[in-house]
Amino acid sequence: MDKFIINGGKPLKGKIEISGAKNSALPCLAATLLSSEVVILHNVPYVKDLITQRRLLEDLGATVLTPELRTHKVKAANIETFEAPYELVKTMRASVLALGPLLARFGQAKVSLPGGCAIGTRPIDLHLKAFEQLGATVSLESGDVVARAPKGRLIGADVHFEKVTVTGTENVMMAAALASGKTTIHNAAQEPEIEDLADLLNKMGARIKGAGTDQIEIEGVEALGGAEHTIIPDRIETGTFIVAAAITGGELEIKNCEPAHLKAVIEKLRETGVVIEELNPTTLLVKCGDNGLTAKDVTTEPHPLFPTDMQAQYMALMTQSEGVSTVTETIFENRFMHASELIRMGAKIEISGNTARVHGKTELMGAPVQASDLRASASLVLAALAATGETLIDRVYHIDRGYETIVKKLRNVGAEIERITDNMAMAAEEV
Ligand code: UD1
Repeated sequence: MDKFIINGGKPLKGKIEISGAKNSALPCLAATLLSSEVVILHNVPYVKDLITQRRLLEDLGATVLTPELRTHKVKAANIETFEAPYELVKTMRASVLALGPLLARFGQAKVSLPGGCAIGTRPIDLHLKAFEQLGATVSLESGDVVARAPKGRLIGADVHFEKVTVTGTENVMMAAALASGKTTIHNAAQEPEIEDLADLLNKMGARIKGAGTDQIEIEGVEALGGAEHTIIPDRIETGTFIVAAAITGGELEIKNCEPAHLKAVIEKLRETGVVIEELNPTTLLVKCGDNGLTAKDVTTEPHPLFPTDMQAQYMALMTQSEGVSTVTETIFENRFMHASELIRMGAKIEISGNTARVHGKTELMGAPVQASDLRASASLVLAALAATGETLIDRVYHIDRGYETIVKKLRNVGAEIERITDNMAMAAEEV
């Protein structure tokens, strides 16, 4: 298993380019299943989850060409099977995004039910209930979700999500795009990735309005065609590198990002004393303020509020901020796995239910630690960059799921980080 060795205590300085958003590229790749024509996606990040999603498309019978590393040219004309097996779903929950498109276009889909994951139980009951509202029958057979549209086509309906769900909204939006009649999604997720997916679907010929608000209206069409689309920048990667600049007392120019997609994060980080300037609409200049960092409370909420995917990185920053802060997690029930590892490095954190109390500022010292999930891994990298001495981070396959060439990007701005690898492909990319 790959590991990172990080020698911390060096302020990061220089320019960093943001990659395409993993959480947008995943549903956009799934959306290619809705058409028999060629869909071209640019700015697809080279990360493990996307390699897995590509494999899923190929297993289903689609042809995926990558004329350039970050461009995917997909043709889903000859889909032979409608099944996403457990082997794939267990490594990547986003495989459930195949359900909506397969069910909509072929009237049937079988996707292994994802189990719990490190950050919680993460059910997909709301996706399934919505498919039933669109006329599908849904059953569980030997661990697989089997969904069928009785007359081969879904029927538009009013869908009310009792809880805001990102992939649930995406799945239903894709399914409704080919349903007969109109679907309205109430209490829809408002993440920028939903808007990006709606943009792609509309380019393919769908009729979707209201994406990015809590009510989305979809007029179903008979068929979708080809399209060409560029994936939006990754807002969580952007937020992670803002924290990297601040936590190391460095100065980073963060390029190719979309600041409007992370307003709540930028606002909160400014409150703590991080200086964030917009040099132009896609470039941020980030440095630590003259008076250092001050502890501020945060609570994770659905977009446009503070994202759960930035909670772990924010907690790392709070260990280096003066005062006591509380970090409250409201989206996932078990998303504090990084806290015990941060404590191993010298942080003072008390967990009570869904709240962590962080006492800052404590000196962080390098230590052997373990990554437990994608964003937890990012918080350990950040803490290691701020720590004195050497940190060995084990199980970095988690970080490879979602951060493109992170070693290369950090080295370019002065970090002492090295991968100990047996994954030559990933390593080659990072040289
Ligand atoms: C997506 C993101 C993930 C992010 C999360 C929250 C992708 C590929 N992943 O995950 O990075 O952390 O949004 O912003 O985009 N829930 C149910 N039943 C359901 C669906 C969800 O109870 O059928 C619950 C979940 O357990 C969780 C909450 O709703 O407590 C939000 O989950 P959801 O927005 O669906 O997260 P994902 O789409 O899985």
